[in-house]
Amino acid sequence: MIRIAAVGDVHLDEEMRGHYRSHLDGVAEHADVLLLAGDLTKHGTLEEGKAVADEFRGLGLPVVAVLGNHDYHCDAQDAIAEIMRAAGVTVLEGDGVTLDCPGGRLGIAGTKGFGGGFAGKCASEFGEPEIKEFVRHGRDVAGRFAAALRDLDADLRVGLTHYAPVKDTLTGEPPEIYPFLGSYLLAEAVDGAKAGLAVHGHAHAGVECGLTPGGVRVRNVALPVLRRPYAVYRLEAVPDPVTV
Ligand SMILES: [Fe+2]
Ligand SMILES: [Fe+2]
Repeated sequence: MIRIAAVGDVHLDEEMRGHYRSHLDGVAEHADVLLLAGDLTKHGTLEEGKAVADEFRGLGLPVVAVLGNHDYHCDAQDAIAEIMRAAGVTVLEGDGVTLDCPGGRLGIAGTKGFGGGFAGKCASEFGEPEIKEFVRHGRDVAGRFAAALRDLDADLRVGLTHYAPVKDTLTGEPPEIYPFLGSYLLAEAVDGAKAGLAVHGHAHAGVECGLTPGGVRVRNVALPVLRRPYAVYRLEAVPDPVTV
């Protein structure tokens, strides 16, 4: 059994220093890893990034994060990622990490992801260059995410994104903004790698549970959805599911 704690959209700022941390006491007793699904800051400033790093440093378990769109707002995303890495947090973007847990080898691939919409109602590379660029960016990040997931040498693969891979977990959000909340290409990546779990944030008004078209469990761990400091998911590791 591998125990995965996860939360996203904590949206910390300087004034919230220490508040969230007080809810993380003992997380290492309940989980083998803590996943952070992006939007860790309010406006993506360096000061907020430092507050995030201090909040999640030295928890006694591996912490693996992706950034969210808010963390990009001040164009300081690379510096924020470096500050978090210096605090011991693994920050993924189109790459992966493997952890030896008591229940097996856990592989996590991560990306912020991007919008674009869902099968049947998605944007396409047509018309103005700005639309083509929007669609191309979503395709590029999903492509790198798919490769990173596939390349994980692990008993259990988990896909970590900020944007949503499916519509299921967006229920409660206005349908008009679905194309800005996620992309079906992220679900294709998860299904292609036969992952055991997909974790995302971003959809504050959505719901926690969904499924990819291939039947992989999806969990929206945005803090306003969870209404608890973090969720813990327990999964059985299946040796090398891609080749079985
Ligand atoms: Fe958010
Ligand atoms: Fe977001």
